Amino acid sequence: MLQNRVMTTDRVHEPFVTDEWWRTAVIYQVYPRSFADSDGDGHGDLPGITARLDHLAALGVDALWLSPFYRSPMKDGGYDVIDYRDVDPLFGTLADADALIARAHELGLRVIVDVVPNHTSAQHPWFEAALAAPPGSPERDRYLFRDGKGEQGQVEPNNWISVLGAPAWTRITEADGTPGQWYCHLFDASQPDLNWAHPKVRAEMEETLRFWLRRGVDGFRVDVAHALIKADGLPDHAKRVEMASAGVAADASLDLDAPSADPHPAFDQDGVHEIYRSWRRVLDEFDPPGERHTRALVAEAWVSPETRLARYIRPDEMQQAFNFGFLCTKWDAAAYRRIITESLASCDLVGAPATWVLSNHDVVRHPSRFGLPDPGFRPNGIYAHDPQPDEALGLRRGRAATAFMLALPGSAYLYNGEELGLPEHCALPDEVRQAPEFFRTEGKEAGRDGCRVPLPWAASEPGFGFSPTGRTWLPQPVEWAKYAVDAQAGVATSTLEFYREALRLRRRLGLGGGGLAWLPGWDDKVLAFSNFPASGPGITVLANLGDTPLPLPECAKVLLASADLPNPEILPANTTVWLA
Ligand code: GLC
Repeated sequence: MLQNRVMTTDRVHEPFVTDEWWRTAVIYQVYPRSFADSDGDGHGDLPGITARLDHLAALGVDALWLSPFYRSPMKDGGYDVIDYRDVDPLFGTLADADALIARAHELGLRVIVDVVPNHTSAQHPWFEAALAAPPGSPERDRYLFRDGKGEQGQVEPNNWISVLGAPAWTRITEADGTPGQWYCHLFDASQPDLNWAHPKVRAEMEETLRFWLRRGVDGFRVDVAHALIKADGLPDHAKRVEMASAGVAADASLDLDAPSADPHPAFDQDGVHEIYRSWRRVLDEFDPPGERHTRALVAEAWVSPETRLARYIRPDEMQQAFNFGFLCTKWDAAAYRRIITESLASCDLVGAPATWVLSNHDVVRHPSRFGLPDPGFRPNGIYAHDPQPDEALGLRRGRAATAFMLALPGSAYLYNGEELGLPEHCALPDEVRQAPEFFRTEGKEAGRDGCRVPLPWAASEPGFGFSPTGRTWLPQPVEWAKYAVDAQAGVATSTLEFYREALRLRRRLGLGGGGLAWLPGWDDKVLAFSNFPASGPGITVLANLGDTPLPLPECAKVLLASADLPNPEILPANTTVWLA
């Protein structure tokens, strides 16, 4: 069993040397609407990002991933696409996208863009044509239309609940004004699911990949990659699937054919893999002569156990999959040991890099999660009347978590603003909320707006320098002045300088390509491991997730500490150190 492996085998992952950039890359997620605004309308845009790329180069990341900026009515933050091959005027133009990619490449940063294959916007021309055409028409066949149950077809075709709450079906009115068929949407009603059994759907999406590859992108983040194929007959399944979720199997076997821990007829069906094999061949068309795997695919797939996830990153499929098991882990050293060991072992089975992530645009920011009374608990947004995170404790733990994450072998993802230590906005007024789940759950869930608040760049400017007019599409908390980039740059103890230093050391020491060995003999509240690169000295990492300070090993040389060490012989609570 893996648990025993952790205790008895010191080496759980061997180092390697490679020039495949994505194996070790630190990839920074830009949420375009919230990063930087150039034209003063209060919505971030592509020229705003281009103008701030120096910030990413100085931070020391290898690549950026841009959440969608395509034509969209923005019913789900741009994950509802009208035209996959054009830029929404909110964000700029295709020429702006070209300029962004060119500038990033000049700075040595690779660019990954989002692709949203499971669904289009309800305003996509295909869906509008499907609504205008009769049941059984080729236009309807590009989506999942079904007749309703009941005498008048008034009952949903099955009992699926949308990920964003409420039923996953909406009934349409036919062109002649009669109540009509239903269409399936695993997310909002504004996001009808495509029929991936349809060859035109497949061909069209592959052309979209080629469109962006020709413009120079280095890869794609694949939105809900596990949802494209549904089980035959669309059988009932009453459980609502939670976004970005992942269970960790207690005694996972290292078997790629192990069944899903939480099967659902709309997710993780075997048929998805053929799609990604085909996509991989498309990406390979763009490799320069003599080079392989220069463009990468990363799966957003909420599947468990980790071996199910590894199926998406077999040698002829994608290169990476987000590690939601890691993201969902609570503040507990044993749980981290288990998920880290399982992740590395599962990825090793298929020769893919493990990935690590703590925050993204769909979850409460990690410093706030770790500051909750149940640290690491993941509510869908936080209201002002909910139990509030302890901001200082959360930031302290957040930095400690980042420090052990960035010392793990593989690739790591950062979410914009985490390098500033930004907390969740936990007091947004309901009138400004936009995330569809707030409306679909009738306010039972606050939703994801709190992690999407525009970034603070300059402490004393209106809108903290996000936009030249001071406008911001969501209000920023006044206390955010202290988190602004210009308030932290050059301040040795700041979170920004801590991230810069961690990334600089990670690169210099080759930690992304290193091996991992757990170190025995430490308190069970401590994560203790060494990262030993293929060449060079390696480091020891000690993360004290407990509340009691512990003695540091004698003569240890501290390379990085996630918090101040008032006594050089003591590792304080909620602190991580890297030791030479
Ligand atoms: C992914 C995105 C999320 C979006 C959903 C539907 O989970 O990360 O933001 O709401 O897909 O496209």
